[in-house]
Amino acid sequence: MLKKKFLDSPGLANLWYLIEPVLISQITIQQILSRIDIIDIVGGFVKLRKRGSNYLGLCPFHNEKTPSFTVSPSKEIYKCFGCGRSGNAIGFLMEHEKYSYVEALRWLASKYDVPIEETETSPEYKQQQQVADSLYILNGFAQKYFSDTLFQTEEGIDIGLSYLKERGFREDVIQKFQLGYCLNRKDAFAQVALSAQYSPDILQKSGLIVIRDDKPADNYRGRIIFPVHNHSGKICGFGARIIASNDKAPKYINSPENEIYIKSKILYGSYFARHAIDKADECLLVEGYTDVISLHQSGIENVVASGGTSLTPDQLRLVKKYTNNLTIIYDGDAAGVKAALRGLDMALEEGLNVKLVLIPDNEDPDSYVNKIGPVAFREFIANNKKDFILFQLEVSLKDAGSDANKKSGVVNRIADTISRLNKAEDFTRQQEYIRQCSQLLKIDESGLNALVNKYIRDRISRMESKAGNEEARASEQASSSTLILPDDDSFLLLQRDEMNERAMVKALLEFGTRLWDDRQTVADYIFEEFESNGLQELIDNQDLLRMIESFRGWYKEGLDPGPKNFLYHQDIELSKLAISLMETAYELSVNWKEHYEGPIPSRDDLYKEEVFSTVNYLKLRKIKRLIDENQRDMEKTHSPEEQLTLIQTHQHLKQLEIELTRNLGTVIFR
Ligand code: UTP
Ligand code: MN
Repeated sequence: MLKKKFLDSPGLANLWYLIEPVLISQITIQQILSRIDIIDIVGGFVKLRKRGSNYLGLCPFHNEKTPSFTVSPSKEIYKCFGCGRSGNAIGFLMEHEKYSYVEALRWLASKYDVPIEETETSPEYKQQQQVADSLYILNGFAQKYFSDTLFQTEEGIDIGLSYLKERGFREDVIQKFQLGYCLNRKDAFAQVALSAQYSPDILQKSGLIVIRDDKPADNYRGRIIFPVHNHSGKICGFGARIIASNDKAPKYINSPENEIYIKSKILYGSYFARHAIDKADECLLVEGYTDVISLHQSGIENVVASGGTSLTPDQLRLVKKYTNNLTIIYDGDAAGVKAALRGLDMALEEGLNVKLVLIPDNEDPDSYVNKIGPVAFREFIANNKKDFILFQLEVSLKDAGSDANKKSGVVNRIADTISRLNKAEDFTRQQEYIRQCSQLLKIDESGLNALVNKYIRDRISRMESKAGNEEARASEQASSSTLILPDDDSFLLLQRDEMNERAMVKALLEFGTRLWDDRQTVADYIFEEFESNGLQELIDNQDLLRMIESFRGWYKEGLDPGPKNFLYHQDIELSKLAISLMETAYELSVNWKEHYEGPIPSRDDLYKEEVFSTVNYLKLRKIKRLIDENQRDMEKTHSPEEQLTLIQTHQHLKQLEIELTRNLGTVIFR
C-alpha cells in the first residue's frame, strides 16, 4: 500500500518523513553517526569480552549459556550465531530497547553530547506534537492521582483496593501496572486537574473528563483504572472497569481516540512484555487487561492483550517487531475465537507462526491461571498449542459437515492458505501441512499437493504478467547481442536486471563523490544520464529508487551521502538494503591478461568502467522498451506516412541498441 503510494508520487523523496517526521537535522544525524562506537553502545547492555578482532558475549535476545553473540568493531555490526539476529548499533538500540529510529538517535545524541539541531516543521505538525505532549503529561498526572486515590483514600482502599485483592492481585503487581481508582464523585478529579492548570480542552480530549450539564465531570467515576502504556512506557490512555456489575453501564470505558491513543496500534502490556518476548521468542496474546496482569503475576511475562477485537495490521507489525511466534490464548466461546481468527491470513503471509490455545469453557486466562496455578497453567499452554492452519481446517470442516460442495470449498481454501506459506516458510513445513491436512480432509496427499502447486503457479503467473511483459520480450532481442545472458529465461533476465540495478546503486554509494571527469563527479554523471534519458522509471526495485533519491537529497544539500550514512539510514528497509549491497561482490569480467600487463586492477581503479557499464545497461533496457512500444504502434497503424516514421524510429533505435551493446558486457554479477 505504502509502496503503491510512493510509486504514484515519485516526488516524495522519502516516504518515511510522512510516517515519522524527523525533527533532527541531517547534519546532526551525521554528527551522531560519526561518533558511534558499537562496542561502547552494545557493551552498555551486554557484557563483552575481546576474542581476536571481535567481541563476544551472551546474546541478550535469546537464552544461552555459552556466548554466541559477536560484535565486530570494524564492520560495525553485531551478529548472534545462536538466534541469527544481526544489525548495526542503531539497530541494536531499536531491537533491544524497542526505540524508534529517532528515539535511538536522541539517546545517542545525549550519550555523546551532540547538540540536536531541529529542522523546520509544519505548524500543523508542531501543533499536533504539542497536543500529544500535553496529553502525555496530563495522563502521567492522572495516573499518579488515581494510584494515590487507590492506596491512600478511605474509599480507594475500601472499594478499589479490596476489590483488586479479592480478585487475587498482589500489591507489587498492582504497583507495577500502576493501577488506580477514581472516586465515585461527580468531579473530584476534574477539580484537582483544573486547579493544577490543565486546560479544559486537553482534559476533554483525554477522555478523563466529560461535559455534563455544561460542567466538567469525571468520566471514570467509581471505577478501577488501568493505565495503558505505549511501547516506551509512557501512558497513552486508560481503561476503566466498573466494580459492581451493572446492566446499564459498560464494563470498561476506554480512552477515546486522540493524538496519542490510537487503538489499532496499541497492544496492552507491550511495554512490560518486550524483554520477555525477546527471550522466549514468543508472544502470547490474550483478550483483556486482567488476563495480562494475572499472567504476569504468575511469572508469565511475554503476554499482551488486543482488547477483545481482531488484530489489526499495525498490531501484527508490533508483534513482528519482537518475534515471529504468536500464540493466541482465548476462551473457547465461539465469538472470541472467531474474532481471533479474523485477519490472521495476513499474519501467515507476513511469515508469523501462529498457534492457538483454547481455554476451557467459562474461563479466561485470568480466571484459569488463578484456578489451576502457574505451573499447571504453563503446562496447559505447552500441551494444548494447536497449529493455526490445522485448527482453521477443523473448524471449517465441522461447519461443512457432509455437504460436498462446502467441503470442496474447504479443500480449495486450505490449499490456497498453504500455498501462501511458500515464500515465508521452508519447503518441509509446507509438505508437513499438506500431509496433515490431507489426513484431516481424508483425501489423497498427492492430490492436495498438486492443488497447492496450482495455486503457487497461478500466483506466479499473475505476478509475471504484471511485472514481466517487457522483459520477456526483451530477452528475445538480447540473445542476439554480445551480452552473456542465461538462456532466454525471463525470470533469470529479471534477476539480471535487478542485479544491474543493485550494482549501479552500489557504485553510486561507493564512488558517487569521486571525479567522473574534470567537469563533474560520478553522481553528477549518473543523475544527468537519469534525467536526460528518463531512467528513473526503469528502476523496478522501489527501495533502490528511494535510495537513489535519498542519495540525491543529501548530495544536493552538501551532506555526505556515503555508504556509512546508508548503513544507519532511518528507513530500516534502506539500512538493510545498504548492508546487503555492501556485502555483495560484483566482478569485472574483462579478460585482464589480454588487455593489461602487470597487476590485476581492483574495483577501485575501475570504478568508471563499472558506473558506465551499469548505466548503459539501464539505457539498453530503456531502448528495448521503446523498440517494443514502437513495434506495438506499427501493428496498430495503417496510414503509410505514420508507418514510415515508425519504421525510421525503429531503425534509429536499433542503431542505438547496437552501439550500446557494443559498449556493454563488462560487469558480471555473482
Ligand atoms: P472481558 O469482558 O473478557 O473482560 O473483555 P476481562 O478483561 O476478562 O475483565 P474482567 O476479568 O471481567 O475484569 C476483554 C477485554 O475487552 C475489552 C477490554 O479490553 C477487556 O479487557 N472490553 C470489554 C472493553 O473494552 N469494553 C467492555 O465493555 C468490555
Ligand atoms: Mn476476566
